[in-house]
Amino acid sequence: MKRSILLLLLATVIAIAPAWARKAPKKFVHETVAIPEISPKVIAVETDHTQLLLQVDKKGSVRTVHYGAPTGEAAQFVSFRSGYGSLYGSGPMTYPTVGGRFIGQPALQVKYADGTHNTELYYVSHETVSRGGAVTTTLHLKDYVTALEVSLVYEAFRAEDVILMHSEVVNGGKKAVELLDVASASLNLDAGDYLLTHFYGDWAMEMQVERTPLTHGVKVIESRRGTQGTQNTNPSFLLSCGKSFSETEGEVIGGALAWSGNYRLSFEKNHTDRLNIVTGISPFASAYPLAPGARFTTPQMIYTWSAEGAGGASRNLHRWARKQGVYGGSQVNPTLLNSWEGAYFDFTTETLLRMIDDAASMGLEMFVLDDGWFAMDHPRNNDKAGLGDWELNTNKLPEGIDYIASYAHSKGLKFGIWIEPEMVNPDSNLAEAHPEWVVQAPGREIYQTRNQWLLDLSNPAVQDFVFGVFDRTMQLSANIDYIKWDSNREVSSFGSTFLGEEQDRFYIEYVQGLYNVLQRVRAKYPDTIVQCCSSGGSRVDYGALKYFNEVWTSDNTDAISRVRIQYGTSLIYPASVMGSHVSAVPNHQTGNVVSLKFRFDIASAGRLGMELQPKNLTAEERALADRCITSYKGYRDLVFTGDLYRLASPYEGDYYALMYVSPDKRRAVVFAYCLRYQNRGVGTHTFRLQGLDPARKYKVKEQNVDKSCWWGDGKAFTGAFLAGGGFNPALLKTNTSAVFLLEAE
Ligand code: GLA
Repeated sequence: MKRSILLLLLATVIAIAPAWARKAPKKFVHETVAIPEISPKVIAVETDHTQLLLQVDKKGSVRTVHYGAPTGEAAQFVSFRSGYGSLYGSGPMTYPTVGGRFIGQPALQVKYADGTHNTELYYVSHETVSRGGAVTTTLHLKDYVTALEVSLVYEAFRAEDVILMHSEVVNGGKKAVELLDVASASLNLDAGDYLLTHFYGDWAMEMQVERTPLTHGVKVIESRRGTQGTQNTNPSFLLSCGKSFSETEGEVIGGALAWSGNYRLSFEKNHTDRLNIVTGISPFASAYPLAPGARFTTPQMIYTWSAEGAGGASRNLHRWARKQGVYGGSQVNPTLLNSWEGAYFDFTTETLLRMIDDAASMGLEMFVLDDGWFAMDHPRNNDKAGLGDWELNTNKLPEGIDYIASYAHSKGLKFGIWIEPEMVNPDSNLAEAHPEWVVQAPGREIYQTRNQWLLDLSNPAVQDFVFGVFDRTMQLSANIDYIKWDSNREVSSFGSTFLGEEQDRFYIEYVQGLYNVLQRVRAKYPDTIVQCCSSGGSRVDYGALKYFNEVWTSDNTDAISRVRIQYGTSLIYPASVMGSHVSAVPNHQTGNVVSLKFRFDIASAGRLGMELQPKNLTAEERALADRCITSYKGYRDLVFTGDLYRLASPYEGDYYALMYVSPDKRRAVVFAYCLRYQNRGVGTHTFRLQGLDPARKYKVKEQNVDKSCWWGDGKAFTGAFLAGGGFNPALLKTNTSAVFLLEAE
């Protein structure tokens, strides 16, 4: 009773209290942060034959209005309006973000501490400087609400017609943010029709080529393997602007991402037929935290444009790669004999010394000791044990590595050795000593691939260990000239004991950790030739190639399979990086049998090597091998530094052919292969040579001679004749081939 009276009294007091005494609900007011107006401008990023134009409107929004042939005065584009249509938000944004009116696929998505996802970037300033052989233009953009800052960096290599693009994000706010999506670049095109050439594959069938018209919607090429990013796809493509693919004509854009981890290339064609290409690290399981003041730098996206078809785009990429994109890219690497397919794990010092003798007598220039030389307690006599225990197996090689390396040097050969430092077999001392270094998720099985686990390179202690493996291996002998760095598995059930609750960092920091190690390697061993192998070609990307001289293109050494693998690789990567070995028949991966000449002619189109037991060759085969190796040394400068012209595609007919032409057009080497000879009525096939000087006369001489196969061998012909007339070697059987050297008179 007393209580109800009290309540009644309270209610009466509230009811008669003046309005000012009561707390009025605060009126909701939306405040807009002002964006300072600027004077509109167009920023031009230019190379000798291309122009990228970025238009900045008075609000500071930046749009890509042109990428292609030079258009003259860039200022003509100041008021240019694209036909984007009002339905599609803000137009062809140069670096589209989640937020604002843009509703296409974003380059940047940030989650802020208050849970919001909106970012709108506006121009603040830009500058252009010349450095490292490139003209670098940097645009500074800002979100005025969250203080997020983004720089877009464009490095233009004039003569190569290559523009590198990347972004840098700085958290200018007071609280940590998460980068949900952070692309290296976004490129907006207005060509109407687009034909995409991209890559797919698997172990032993890397860089298979696929071509598809881009229809409306999104096409995504992605890797979520963590390591071995290029086993099933490759972070690169060619894009023909138009409906058809041509080697020699039409506008083609080449793109490649310099990143050795998860990536995503995504192509969105909208209803106005514009294409937006967003490329960068894949956001897969990587909501990357960025602390206040911290900076995130994305990997470089390499772009080129050519009006000379796919061939032109490839040549631009190759020229840039040799000059800038590949470690030691302008050097000629030695021919070699690798022990793997000739001896596998089964060798003694004696076996290796005899292989060195044979390599030397065949004129090869290096011997590489592959897997199997290390681990005492868990000897590496098969792939089930020993990875991680990088001490010499003195039971197997009691004389030591220096003995073998010095022997190679005494025979005039360089010496190389294999390591796989990122990995550990459960059956090893390392796995027992440092189980916490293994990539693993709490409570879950640690899956094995090839009987091995992956070490967690996001952990600095593991980075030290991996660097130490390289360093200690180099200490085994002063005569080590070459390291084959292998990496034979992908990431599964990812997790890092080092990263604690910040597992979102794993995929990105694994790669950064790898690059840290490789930087240390290069600082200490600038002259060592280092091959990038990953079950063959599972780490073929321009991120790795900054540190590696070459790649092991594929574990598949069958010349028949190599046709497609090497053709595909050549679309993006230069022949100078392409390790290609002659191996035994029947081929160990496929069982196919082809002639030794065909095997040499395929392998000679890259960095030639052999990977077999030479003592198993017949005297006749040895003689042919000697001739091929001698010939190769006479023209390999063209393979390493010449311009590539693909003459026939293995996807489009019964022949594959290519040639390398010296920059001064005085010399060239032509490789021609018959992949399928259907009947004698077919006769010879004519290849039209490219890249020659029409007026010059070239003396044409067959190389790797088995028996001469062209009526013109030894004669001289004009470039015009060879381009338009009859270069038709008699390749009258399936899997026959010919190599010709052309020298201007
Ligand atoms: C991988 C490589 C091969 C060879 C073996 C050794 O498969 O790709 O070339 O080095 O490892 O185990």
